[in-house]
Amino acid sequence: MMKIISTVIQLRSLIADARLSGKTIGFVPTMGALHEGHLELMRRAKRENDLLVMSIFVNPIQFNNKEDLEKYPRTLEQDSSMLETVGCDFLFAPDVKEMYPEPVNEQYDFGKLADVMEGASRPGHFNGVAIVVRKLLEIVEPDKAYFGEKDFQQLAIIQLLVKMIPLPVEIIPCPIVREADGLAMSSRNMRLTENERFVAPFIYQTLKQAVKLNTVLSPEELKRWTSEKFKKRPEFKVDYIEIAEDQLLQPVTHWNDANGVCIFVAVFLGNVRLIDNMRIF
Ligand code: PAJ
Repeated sequence: MMKIISTVIQLRSLIADARLSGKTIGFVPTMGALHEGHLELMRRAKRENDLLVMSIFVNPIQFNNKEDLEKYPRTLEQDSSMLETVGCDFLFAPDVKEMYPEPVNEQYDFGKLADVMEGASRPGHFNGVAIVVRKLLEIVEPDKAYFGEKDFQQLAIIQLLVKMIPLPVEIIPCPIVREADGLAMSSRNMRLTENERFVAPFIYQTLKQAVKLNTVLSPEELKRWTSEKFKKRPEFKVDYIEIAEDQLLQPVTHWNDANGVCIFVAVFLGNVRLIDNMRIF
């Protein structure tokens, strides 16, 4: 049976017991509205550790858009039954006062990693992510924590965070889980209208075509090609398209500038902002 815990003190004491009996701990932080992408992270954490801890907390300080925070789906009842099916041991679901009893004012400097893409488009977002993830990692003290490549830049920020502090946890990157039609799973997909949901796989199809063109186009040309593709579809409004190396996520101008390069997009489909990425090499 999964235990649902809402206070730090209670979670700390359960975790101390588990530690005393020599159990390893895997941790998956989320904001809830769970889908198969989250569940994949949990199945892996369950396989690789004795105890699976996950958290659901819609972290207000990482939202730079009030409407996005208000409309963020909250489905705790459905979430907890999904969690039972993957064998989650502890669900930590604190409220805002429990996580932030005092006003927060920590400021992190992630250098140029935080200046691009999501960092540029959503001011303060990664600072809010770093504050909550650090707090959660310090409360849970997991051996391993699991993060999805769907949020590739977030994953890079967290890897830097645990190195900077430093925190004794292994960060495990997990591949993007997609719907059958290619749309990257996201809690925000629930907010798409029927028609928006129907056209949404265009993002994946476009990325799939784009990654094949690196043999004939330069990074700059490929960026323009991708942007033209989206311009032909009036449903989409592009926030950014970037072709960047996979370490500090800086844009590349020549393919041989880096050992690993990915394409990243953020687009608005109606009022919903969706992100996706794909490795080119
Ligand atoms: P959330 O968006 O709920 O995502 C929780 C974790 O699930 C993240 O590591 C995210 O990358 C991963 N994830 C989401 N969709 C995925 C998909 N389609 N495939 C693979 N992994 C996927 O990311 C957050 O919450 C928050 O920023 C958080 C880290 C919890 C801090 O508040």
